[in-house]
Amino acid sequence: MDHFNYRDGVLYAEDVPLSRLASEYGTPCYVYSKATFTRHFRAYTEALGSQAHLICYAVKANSNLAVLGLLARLGAGFDIVSAGELERVLAAGGDPAKVVFSGVAKRADEMERALQVGIKCFNVESRPELERLNGVAERLGKVAPVSLRVNPDVDAGTHPYISTGLKDNKFGIPVDDALEVYELAASLPNVRVVGLDCHIGSQLTETAPFLDALERLLVLMERLRERGIEIEHLDLGGGLGVPYRDETPPQPFDYASKLLARLSRWEGGERLTLLFEPGRSIAANAGVLLTRVEFLKPGETKNFAIVDAGMNDLIRPSLYQAWQAIVPVDTREARDSALYDVVGPVCETGDFIGKERELAIAPGDVLAVRSAGAYGFVMASNYNSRPRPAELMVDGEHCHVVRARESIESLWQGEALLPAQEV
Ligand code: LLP
Repeated sequence: MDHFNYRDGVLYAEDVPLSRLASEYGTPCYVYSKATFTRHFRAYTEALGSQAHLICYAVKANSNLAVLGLLARLGAGFDIVSAGELERVLAAGGDPAKVVFSGVAKRADEMERALQVGIKCFNVESRPELERLNGVAERLGKVAPVSLRVNPDVDAGTHPYISTGLKDNKFGIPVDDALEVYELAASLPNVRVVGLDCHIGSQLTETAPFLDALERLLVLMERLRERGIEIEHLDLGGGLGVPYRDETPPQPFDYASKLLARLSRWEGGERLTLLFEPGRSIAANAGVLLTRVEFLKPGETKNFAIVDAGMNDLIRPSLYQAWQAIVPVDTREARDSALYDVVGPVCETGDFIGKERELAIAPGDVLAVRSAGAYGFVMASNYNSRPRPAELMVDGEHCHVVRARESIESLWQGEALLPAQEV
């Protein structure tokens, strides 16, 4: 459930008409709903009830400071994958003691900063990373809390680019090698084993792969227990899907109740702290991208609706052939309906926002691309020297600019001409 709804033919974010935001702040722009972020976050905490847990929002999904600050106030932890994400969390008032650090290529300086601020856990993805972390911690006179990110080799049944838990993915430590790497971790003086972690993929629409992964992790935890290695927290990653079109992914409640039922039949399950790293299921349907129709271009085989947002603003359709709903913001005026490919201004054939969409539109109309709160702005670029869009956060009847539209001058900030020379 989200807070983007039509009232008398006009699409609103909470109590603000999106047509007004498009006129006031220009297009393209991202619009988020505070109430929707809050609701989606709380769906997790409520689903977990009395089981000890920490919801570590995956910062990569939407790392705007206002989003991070809101979630921090709601009690969220954070899953980060870079020093940049760590600094964002700190700048937004997030608690470093609730941060877990994922990613296959953590640099020594990133480890150092994370140790200095005292993060909750490093999700270690390989043996050499473990050795590097032990070395960095030793140099600082610290002990690094670690989980191993295990690759349970389950098929998440999702798009190959966002499936991460299979044997041939670069992520994690194969489940069959994990025991050995845990034994190494237990023997190293400057790391301390605290958890076990996995993340099998993104946009999962079934609970079965999560439960398969849990089963394999429980077997591993029993083997670890036999060797005297006790796991305090189990991190099941992110990955819960969202309805983009007609998918019916499980709600956090369905997902959590199945996990909790399984854990209640496992010795010590009720004492485990459960961690989750949801990104998309919190952010995607808490945001839309507003874009204006520049031209309608009828063709022999296709009609094009040319809009002012391109693949540089929202790359998911081009990169993953992702389908996101495209709807007119104001439906009050009658229009002829036709089938359009909705395309952007970027000089690439792959620059489209949606294909074969039935739309009743005219030039100048504003469209909302739904489900754009996750992996939207964060994946935007300046390709074709296009300033990145503004980001707005609606709260009831108020709207806050949470990132100003980039200026043209900012495009070459940090660049330099060569010293004057004779040619
Ligand atoms: N934890 C780890 C270690 C991850 O790699 C990811 C996402 C998450 C958590 C959050 O997963 P979520 O709950 O959002 O599914 N750009 C792609 C999605 C890439 C996801 C990468 N990892 C897209 O736009 O569909």
